[in-house]
Amino acid sequence: MDLVVRNASLPDGRTGIDIAVEGGRIAALGPALAAHGAREIDAGGDLVSPPFVDAHFHMDSTLSYGMPRVNASGTLLEGIALWGELKPQLVQDALVECAMQYCDWAVARGLLAIRTHVDVCDERLLAVEALLDVKRRVAPYIDLQLVAFPQDGLLRSPGAFDNLKRAIAMGVDVVGGIPHFERTMAQGAESVRLLCEFAAEQGLRVDMHCDETDDPLSRHIETLAYETWRLGLQGRVAGSHLTSMHSMDNYYVSKLLPLMRESGVAAIANPLINITLQGRHDTYPKRRGMTRVPELLAAGIDVAFGHDCVMDPWYGLGSGDMLEVAHMGLHVAQMTGQDAMRACFEAVTGTPARILGLEGYGLAPGCHADFVLLDAATPVEAIRLRAARRLVVRRGTIVAEAPAMKASLNLPGRPGSVDFRIGR
Ligand code: FE2
Repeated sequence: MDLVVRNASLPDGRTGIDIAVEGGRIAALGPALAAHGAREIDAGGDLVSPPFVDAHFHMDSTLSYGMPRVNASGTLLEGIALWGELKPQLVQDALVECAMQYCDWAVARGLLAIRTHVDVCDERLLAVEALLDVKRRVAPYIDLQLVAFPQDGLLRSPGAFDNLKRAIAMGVDVVGGIPHFERTMAQGAESVRLLCEFAAEQGLRVDMHCDETDDPLSRHIETLAYETWRLGLQGRVAGSHLTSMHSMDNYYVSKLLPLMRESGVAAIANPLINITLQGRHDTYPKRRGMTRVPELLAAGIDVAFGHDCVMDPWYGLGSGDMLEVAHMGLHVAQMTGQDAMRACFEAVTGTPARILGLEGYGLAPGCHADFVLLDAATPVEAIRLRAARRLVVRRGTIVAEAPAMKASLNLPGRPGSVDFRIGR
């Protein structure tokens, strides 16, 4: 074997597991494997997880914080206006450089698959070209999936639909949209229908920014679910954000959830950004704004968490750490039970992998040898500590390493160090 990892714990609760890797795939997985590895690693009982997956990101604007100025109001709409100011000034090389730097951070964080939206409301399609270039460059270590995103509105922005179609023809993978940003509710619904029909024609997946507002009457998710069902797109469509659901009438939601379930539409919440951008028109009480994650899960709907933004016109923090995203999601949704906390870990690993349609993802014989050794024993401990990624493995090769978290102490009668772990 090329590599054998000994004595790992897995996210499903199994412990004392060895993982044998050959030819970039997992060859065997189980207790006390007889196989010998050219390289052997002792996990020491720590958690080995499939890599983190970010279901929702904007790589064309990442690491542009403060350019040309900082978002003073902190709102979504000022962020969109700011991005509009920045767009004409974008230079392809700088855009590629920022995206490549972010991908370096992602690998160090064990984040090896990212779905990024890319703005197509620019005649030059400069960001599309840049991110297609980045996708090719990072392919050996990150699965980058691109969504054609008409940021300024499909019908509202002249030429947007043609640009979106050109972007798809250039190699962009997924059809995006932003119905709540169209001029009227009717035009929002029309944009959903047009985009879903286009995706069905082309055999593509759909992922729309949908109802990213506190307006309880923003109900484009209803149209998205209906069109998904009508066009037979079940399992290939995601509604991103869905923050209006936070403020919707409970009776209406009781009707909406089964429609989403029957349509096979997935939900993608973005906890760091939803808690930051929503509720900005509230005084007190101030809404959290994130969609109804536990209720969606209870209804049998896939829910993933995305990072959405890192150091851009909408958000001035972040470092590609999906455990930070899961940590915030857990708090905002009050998902503090053990099963609920484990579901938050799943929302940044297995569920987004399913939404992206990743091939060979997971910890089982035959899967790609892609995994992360965390400085934690369980998924819940990993979230609690935003655990260090001791090793990140892609196709059987170690692509990043980091030391375990430890602080030395100088206290009379107390231990010489702490690692924040319990029970060892
Ligand atoms: Fe977004």
